[in-house]
Amino acid sequence: MTYRLPLFTICLLLATAVSAHALPVGWAWVGGVEAQQAIITARIDTPAPARLRIIGTATPLTTVLTAPMEGGTLHRFVATGLAPDTDYRYQFISTEGTPLDDEPRTFRTFPRPGQPADFRFAFASCARGKDSPVFTAAVRQGARFFLHTGDFHYADIAENRVEAFRAAYDAHLSAPRLRAMLATLPLLYQWDDHDYGPNDSNRTSPSRSASLRNYRELVPHHPLTVTPGEPLAPVDQAFTVGRVRFILSDLRSERDPAGLRLMSAAQDAWLRAQLLAARDADCPLIFWVSSVPWNGAPSTDDRWQGYPVHRAEIADFIKNHKLAGRVVILSGDAHMTAIDDGSHSDFAAGGGAPLRVFQAGPIANRGSYKGGPYSHGARYQSSPGEYLYQFGLVDVRDDGRRVRVTFSGRQGADAQGNQVLTAERDAEGPIRLEFTTP
Ligand SMILES: [Fe+2]
Repeated sequence: MTYRLPLFTICLLLATAVSAHALPVGWAWVGGVEAQQAIITARIDTPAPARLRIIGTATPLTTVLTAPMEGGTLHRFVATGLAPDTDYRYQFISTEGTPLDDEPRTFRTFPRPGQPADFRFAFASCARGKDSPVFTAAVRQGARFFLHTGDFHYADIAENRVEAFRAAYDAHLSAPRLRAMLATLPLLYQWDDHDYGPNDSNRTSPSRSASLRNYRELVPHHPLTVTPGEPLAPVDQAFTVGRVRFILSDLRSERDPAGLRLMSAAQDAWLRAQLLAARDADCPLIFWVSSVPWNGAPSTDDRWQGYPVHRAEIADFIKNHKLAGRVVILSGDAHMTAIDDGSHSDFAAGGGAPLRVFQAGPIANRGSYKGGPYSHGARYQSSPGEYLYQFGLVDVRDDGRRVRVTFSGRQGADAQGNQVLTAERDAEGPIRLEFTTP
């Protein structure tokens, strides 16, 4: 007698067999993107170190790291000699040159610095949940890259062991929706407390050195130039897309709560030099990424509100160098999406630095309201046990004379991102702002 398995049982067995056979490439992450260069890191399960092939180029590729990691090996590649504003396909190959898989992976280099360029990007913070539909929505919206403004994971690691950090990132990077986004979009990233160390962590974090080492090895970042070559230096970095400068300050690894400083003197000097260099290079728009909210009355908490003297110094610098119209803050940490047009964000002595602020998130977390108020409203309420999935979308249109910018808070729960969020507090209507910088 012939025994026949029902069709669904056969499908289930096949699916189990496929999932039991781990993919050779756990994840691949493109970052550190410039006009002619990109950094690619990947977890690859292969006995010998893998190589990177960029299709259609003879570009020199450098492997700078292969280090053991659970479930494979951490690889780090530097691709140089690329053409600006160009799409590239790439694959990982064995020492003999055989592709390790047939998954399609692409990225696009940035336009040449100084050339006017139109682009759109998505940004958000706070991924307590591992497989957020926000990442799918960012791809659907045609974002050129995703800017992660902190709390990549909530492992709150207090042990000074690099493997603990690798495992926390690995868990998120392997989740299907982020893994799929990374196959087409660069991910640029600055950390906040839960991913740098424990909750509200600072320079005294017991896991500080392991965390800094992991960031340097696992995250494909831009050059770390506050104290170049120093392994425990903070991870501030900057990059340019067309005529727009992005400055990502590290507000955790040198934070000194006793001295009421969010950054070291070296970081402060670096930030000021970056702002002046951007002005001197005629960048009409400077996005400054602050992982924590900027506005709100002085208080004793973990964000800029708790560091009002330091905040005022930066605001005064911006005012004194006539940069207020160009500097825009993108922030994270709060589990909400909110926009302020500068009405509530001027902390210079006597006024004069009304900075626009766009706060976006959470990628996957419960809602919370911080800082504020926000001229164009905030969206943050969630039911008990429910996560919000929100992000910010930024459109930049540069005609060579002026830059027109559109901010919109987006609903990501449907994995589409078409819906503009409406305000629940401080204002009514869509959380959206358009402005032009000279
Ligand atoms: Fe958070």
